[in-house]
Parts: sequence; C-alpha cells; structure tokens
Amino acid sequence: MCGIIGYCGQKPAVPIILEALKRLEYRGYDSAGIACLCDGKLLIEKDAGKVDEIIRKRSLADVPGNVAIGHTRWATHGAVTQVNAHPHSDCSGSAAVVHNGIIENSEQLRQELTRMGHRFTSETDTEVIPHLLEDEIKNGLSLEQAVLNIAPKLEGSYAFLVASLNDPGKIIGTRRNNPLVVGIDAPDYYVSSDALAFSPYTNQVMSLEDNEVVVLAAGKVEFFDARGNKLVKQARQLDHTWTENHKGSYQHFMLKEIMEQAQVLDQTIHQDEKTFNTIALDILRARQVIITACGSSRYAALVGRYLFSRVGKRFCDVVMASEFGYFADSVDKNTVVIAVSQSGETADVVDGVKAARAAEAQVISIINRPNSILADLSHQVIHLNCGPEMAVAATKSFLSQLAIFYLLSFAMVNAFEEAAAKLTDLSSELTRVLDWNKSELIRLSRTLKDKSDFYYIARGINFAIASEGALKLKEISYIHAEGMPAGELKHGTLALIGPGTPVVVVCPADYTFSETLSNAIEAKTRGAYIIGVSDRESDVYDSWIKIPQVDELLYPMVAVVPLHLLAYYLAINRGCDPDRPRNLAKSVTVK
Ligand code: AGP
Repeated sequence: MCGIIGYCGQKPAVPIILEALKRLEYRGYDSAGIACLCDGKLLIEKDAGKVDEIIRKRSLADVPGNVAIGHTRWATHGAVTQVNAHPHSDCSGSAAVVHNGIIENSEQLRQELTRMGHRFTSETDTEVIPHLLEDEIKNGLSLEQAVLNIAPKLEGSYAFLVASLNDPGKIIGTRRNNPLVVGIDAPDYYVSSDALAFSPYTNQVMSLEDNEVVVLAAGKVEFFDARGNKLVKQARQLDHTWTENHKGSYQHFMLKEIMEQAQVLDQTIHQDEKTFNTIALDILRARQVIITACGSSRYAALVGRYLFSRVGKRFCDVVMASEFGYFADSVDKNTVVIAVSQSGETADVVDGVKAARAAEAQVISIINRPNSILADLSHQVIHLNCGPEMAVAATKSFLSQLAIFYLLSFAMVNAFEEAAAKLTDLSSELTRVLDWNKSELIRLSRTLKDKSDFYYIARGINFAIASEGALKLKEISYIHAEGMPAGELKHGTLALIGPGTPVVVVCPADYTFSETLSNAIEAKTRGAYIIGVSDRESDVYDSWIKIPQVDELLYPMVAVVPLHLLAYYLAINRGCDPDRPRNLAKSVTVK
C-alpha cells in the first residue's frame, strides 16, 4: 500500500523522486520521505503529511545528487509520525531503506537485533531491514550480497530499495509478493512499485520476479536471482495510454474519471471476441464458478452474477476475497475462479487466487493495471483498458468491470457482438445522465450534507448498485451509509428510518420496479426523504435522479454514474478530499 521509487543516473535525482512520489500517492499518503546520496553524505528527509506539504515544509526541491530513493506511506506498523515515515536507517546512519509490504516476523527480528546491540528509532516493521543489512556489510559483503543474504530471513511481503554510503553510486531493490518494476532510459534508471511513477521519462520497463534483485548503478542495471546468479532480461514497452494521469481542467481525479466514462466504455469494449468465447465456454463447462473480489470490484461481480444467471443460465457464487480461503476446501480442478481487481495487486485477492491455483482451479482475472501480480498468477487475463484510475474511489473501473461481465455473459450464448453493439450505443446515454442530473445532484449535496446516515436500496441486478453507491459515500464523504436489497429493509434496518432520513432508491422501470417502489413507500411512510434513481417518475420521490430508458440488463451502468457523482459532491460540500480519503489507499496490498 506504500509507493517506493528510486533513481540513479545523470540528472538531479530529487526533483524526479518528488514528482514520482506525487504520482504514487494513490498508494498511500499519510507520510513521505526521501534519501539522497551526495558528496559522501546520506541525506534523509521525511515527515507526516502529503507529499506537497512535506516538500514545502522541508524545502526538498533543491537537494543535490544523482542517486535517491523515496517513499509515500500508508501506515500499517506504527502511527503516522515523522519517525515512522520512511526511509529508515541503521545504527550508523549509513544506509536508507524504503519498503512496501509487511515483514511479518519483524517483532522477532527486532528482539534478536536489539539483543545484539542494535538501536531502533521507529515502531515500524521496516526498520529491521537496514539493521540486518548493517551486520552483513560489517562482515564485508557488498550491498547486493547483503540484500541477497537477508532476504530469506524476512517473512511476509515486501518490495524494498536500499541506498548506502558503503556503495554510494547504487540502489539495490528486491521484492516478494509486492510489485517492483525497473524503468530503462540509459544512462538513467528508475525502479518503483508502479511504472506510472517514472512514466514521463520512459515506457521501457523490466520486471522483477519474486526474490530477484536489481542493482541500479552509474550507466548500468543488473539483475540477479536469489542465489546471486546474473540474469539477462529484455525490456518491454508499456502502452503509452497507461502513463497519462493529468487532471486536465478538473478539480479532482475522481470528477475527471466520472466524466470520462463514456469514452472509457468505448475503450473497454475493444476486446478479443475469441478470448471471450473461450472463457465463456470454460465457465459453462466448469463444475462450479466462483467470483472473488473486494470492495467495488466485488459489487461489480455481484452484477456479473445476475448477468451470468439471466443471460448464460449459469449460477455462480461471489465470495469476498478476504473470506475465499475459508471456502478453499470445495475448490478443485473443475472449478473456475474469476478474480476481479482494478489494481491486480489486492492482497486478499492475490491470496485467494494462490489458494485456487493450489487446488488446481482454472483462474481468470479481470484487471485494469497491466503487468500485475494477479495477471502473472492467472491462466487467462481480461484487461479493462480504462487507463490509470488515480482517485482512490473506483468509478470508471467499476463501469468497465460491469461492461466486461456484460460481454462475458453474452459470450456464453454466442452473442458477444450483440453485447458489444449495445454497449457502444450506451456511451451516449452515460453522457446524457450526467448532463440531466448535475444541478439536482449539486442541490441535493448541499441540502443533505449534514445528514449522518444514508440508506441505498434496490433489487435484483440493481441491488449491487445500491451497495456501490453506499460504499462510495462512506469512503469519500465519511457519512455512514448502507446499501441493501430493498426487500431486506423491513427485516431490521427500517427501525433506523425516521423523518428526513435519506433513502436512495434505485428503481429503473425494469422487472424490479414495482416491488422496489413498494419498499420505498414503506420507508417514506416512516418519514424518509426518497431519492429515486429511475427512468420512470413517481410521486414517491422527493428528488428524482432521471436515468435514460435502456435495455434492462444495462440499467446498473446508467444508475451507478449519478450515485458516484452524488458521493463526489457530498464529499466536496463537507470539505473532504475525494481523491485522498482518510485511512484508505488505492492498492490494498496488506491482508
Ligand atoms: C472502491 O472505491 C474502493 N477504493 C475499494 O473498495 C476497492 O474497490 C477495493 O479495495 C478493491 O480494489 P481492487 O479492485 O484494486 O482489487
């Protein structure tokens, strides 16, 4: 969940690192820091806060030197403080380490190292790494050999970078179960959790496998396996669309990502029909199909479940990835597991997929970020092609996931092209839904910004859209919200509805309309303020969010867009930063 970056080359390193940290902030933004090697000195600057604040506070921009590493943090071990921010150093202050992941045996290592005389200054798991390296270097090992020697002692997941006065022109990196990618633009070299960090400079990359080590040095880059054998790697080119991440004229990435959904849908539809037909056949032939995902990706999967059942006549289950392991007993080689993840690196999903692979299941992934850990673990991969999503809240990737499930379900009945054509027609409807509702959503967000609870209800294929709307509201505006099947309201939650309680009712004029409206009336009778998301007007609504009439299996796509926008405006009206919600990060790489 943290972002790490290293640069070694001929340019001034620190400005490159600072810019990269801003691009990596989606991975964590509670603290940040840099370490720079210059004139025989190791300079470490770090603090709690966002990258821009720290740059200003510590006047970082003018620090000289051509070798530097940096870190942006999402705290796991140790509070959000200046001391716990990365880089971390050893007792002598000669090495600096930035780390993404969790060292699970850090407590035990810390005790051993303390007994041996090491002094710790932070509460982090990371700090064991520089102290372990210190001992190896004292024994005369080179920095890369020291990294190779300590790696087997570390349990858990990591990607870390080291810069040291003992070998000043170098940066050493290694990884296990966390991403690390090298950017090549000889004689300049970059290494980071995400190629996005160095995307303005190069799209030529080389990836590291688990336990491999990379050494960036003046004018060269070298790779080694876990035994220290030299490896030869070929650079590959990243798709340039993945590197664009400007806000443009928008105030926030989230707003831009909501607004660009019509275009995103067009990109997502460009898929290989043959691959879809093959995967659809695998799904139909399997003994059982399980979809696993977290958060918004799981809600997209729940829509997918309805589509599979309705179109493909194929029942499947959706299991929360953090719970998947507890069902692993029933997974076998006749099971198809579909993993859905925007980032492709969510730890719970990765773990579930590993369990599925161990049980010999066939794994299909639906991913946005290219070259992810999940892609490497899967037999087949479907890419969302919706470009980098920078806001922590998923919006355009959610829509793309819905489109993929729509295409897959139609592929089950040999109707991929029909589905692609319907999705093509839908993109103009998405623009329309934004135009129609913008001012009403702004009005609503002003009126309702001080409400403490929201409820979202819907039925059938639209139920997961209610959950998605509620999740988005909680995540970025910090208002408590619950989404549920409308029929469940009367089984307990209705007790919480009182005068003025906002209830968002997703009730398109489809097979769910009448029953959902009845549930809305039950809430209104108790005084609820009803926000109807529908193509059919009704007196029951206190506010009508109008959506266009579309094919009934496409309603989730037109209904979710205004819900994302409502959450956005509520966040803005409450003074929250929708792109960087508190306590959260875009890539959740811890369990
Ligand atoms: C969505 O707005 C959230 N940020 C979150 O629930 C997210 O969908 C979840 O963490 C899963 O991420 P993934 O799709 O990258 O696996």
